[in-house]
Parts: sequence; structure tokens; C-alpha cells
Amino acid sequence: MPLDVSPNALMDSFGRSVSYLRLSVTDRCDLRCTYCMPEKMRFLPKTEVLSLQDLARLSYIFIHRGVRKLRITGGEPLVRRDVMDLFRDMSRHLQSGALDELTLTTNGTQLALHAEALAACGVKRVNVSLDTLDADRYRKVTRLGDIGMVLAGIEAAQAAGLKVKLNAVASKGAFEDEIDALICFAHGRGMDLTLIEEMPLGETGLDRSKSVLSLRDLQTDLARRWTMTPVHRNTGGPARYMAVAETGGQLGLISPMSCNFCALCNRVRLDCTGRLYTCMGDEGSVDLRPALDQSYRATVLAIRHAIAAKPERHKFDMSRMVAPAVKRHMSVLGG
Ligand code: 5AD
Ligand code: SF4
Repeated sequence: MPLDVSPNALMDSFGRSVSYLRLSVTDRCDLRCTYCMPEKMRFLPKTEVLSLQDLARLSYIFIHRGVRKLRITGGEPLVRRDVMDLFRDMSRHLQSGALDELTLTTNGTQLALHAEALAACGVKRVNVSLDTLDADRYRKVTRLGDIGMVLAGIEAAQAAGLKVKLNAVASKGAFEDEIDALICFAHGRGMDLTLIEEMPLGETGLDRSKSVLSLRDLQTDLARRWTMTPVHRNTGGPARYMAVAETGGQLGLISPMSCNFCALCNRVRLDCTGRLYTCMGDEGSVDLRPALDQSYRATVLAIRHAIAAKPERHKFDMSRMVAPAVKRHMSVLGG
């Protein structure tokens, strides 16, 4: 029987077709955010990380099989020395029309250095992680970070014509007092802001039940001060968006813990070693490297096989916040 390598869409067993690939290019990061990793994080030996050629080959296979949107993540993607070569390579697929969108998730510390080159590669949008505007709190949350570099990165990105969206992980305490300032900062500069509920991914050495903040509760609190109306944006992504009347901006809410959004999920994730994860909230993954070493055809089959087994929904649950629901850290897949 001929093997199935037809160029039709990658479809899972629940009828969801996969059009979005999030590609992690490194597990390393120049920061150590408290909700993401322990202070003494052990990173992978470089030999386990895919070469630039393999990252490009794998991306190409996904694009050839119907992926229209590619997001480069990490760890922190911009700490990988040759990452701009990958952007240059991927920009060819934008030019040919095979890819609709090439985007980046970054902590912003190196963004000032790369903003113009990213724009030149056809990147139109970047997501920058920023949980606070307070320099001291930023250093505390990230353990290492200098907020000045991130603010300079955001400014450089906007000057280069990139649309910037801010991502902030919601946490109990100071964050709740500062959220209004973050909304004003983002919306005042034409940026959307998305709040992310902390997810139980990997040991951090800290008790998550002390920091996790339900976005439902936060939203109720915000609604006392801001006029928010739900807007429908068909992104296929997990965020719900609210238009904020006072600022004219939009506020996204990603609450995997208190709200399930899996039915419309159109994405898969590839870690920097070549493992394909079809669900962020599930341990299941398939190593594509052996197939990649074999042939294009073997790789397509391995991808199809993995996607056919994409779980119907994630396993996160508020009541299981004490231990990680998933052992791997966020820095393996970059969200
Ligand atoms: N839960 C939720 N978000 C997280 N991030 C990192 N770790 C976690 C976690 N455990 C966020 C980062 C960044 C995005 C890629 O993921 O702050 O904004
Ligand atoms: Fe680095 Fe992002 Fe993890 Fe912070 S959340 S440590 S910036 S990978």
C-alpha cells in the first residue's frame, strides 16, 4: 500500500487541522523567571539541540504540509547566536506565499539589537514578556533582568515598525496593584496586553499555589474600574479578548486553569531537540529526529502519527496546582 504523504492538511482525530507551529530554538534563557524555572536551572547540552539546518528542514516540512503560521520561541530565542539566520531562511517562505506569518516570542532583553533585522525578514509582530513596570520587581521576578533593556527593546521594535504585544503572567500580590499601570502603559503605546494564568509546568522550587491568580477573579476586579466588552477574534488561540473602552486597547486573557479552550486548538509545538508536542498540557511527545535523519517521507509520517494522537484537551486543573501537572518547564517549549 502506498504511504500517505499527500500534501493535504495535518488533521487530528478530532477534526482539528494544524496550521500553526511554535518552534523552540533553544531551551536557554538569560533570565530565570520565578514561575518558569528554578534559580539553578540545568540546560540541555548543546549537542542535543537541533542544528540550524535541521530546524529549517523541519519547519519546511510543516509548511509544506499546511502550516501557515510559524512562531519562533525558546527559552529565549534571541540568545541563540545563529537565530537570525533561521529568520532569514524562513522569510523565503513568506516571500513565496507558503507562509502567512512569521512571529517571535521574546523576553525583549536583546530585542533592541535585532528589531530592524527582524522587520527586514518580514516579521510583523512580536510578543514581549513583561510582567511589571517596576525595575525592582522586574529584577525579582526574572532574578536577573534589567527592565531598561526590555523597554529599549520594545521601543526599538516599534521604531522598526513591528507590532508589539505584551504578555504578562498574572500572579497574586503586587501584580494586582500594578495591573492598571500595565494596561495604561501598553494601550498608551498602541500595544495589546495579554494576561496569562500561571501554569503548573516544571518544578520551580517555589509553591505555585501561593502565586497563582485566577484570571476570573482578576477580571471581576478589573471590571470595577474598566469598561470591558468581549471581542471576537478568530485567532484559533487560547486568548479571550476584551476591548477596554477607556483606553481603546484590547486586553487578552489566557486562563488555561479556569477555562478550557482546546476545542479550537490549531497548533503544535516543537522543542529544540526535535520533539513534537501536540498539547502543551500533556506529557506526550514524539522525537522526530530519527525520522528526520531517515527521509522527508519518514518525517511526514512521524508527524502525521503524532498529530493523529493529539489529545482532545489538556490536563491542567486548579485543584492540582501543588505539583507540576507536566514535568517539563515552560522554557522547553516557550508557551
Ligand atoms: N505559566 C504561565 N506562563 C508562563 N510563562 C513561563 N512560564 C509560565 C508558566 N509556568 C510565560 C512567560 C512568557 C510566555 C512565553 O510564557 O512569561 O510570557
Ligand atoms: Fe526565560 Fe521566558 Fe522562562 Fe522568563 S519565562 S525564564 S524569560 S524562558
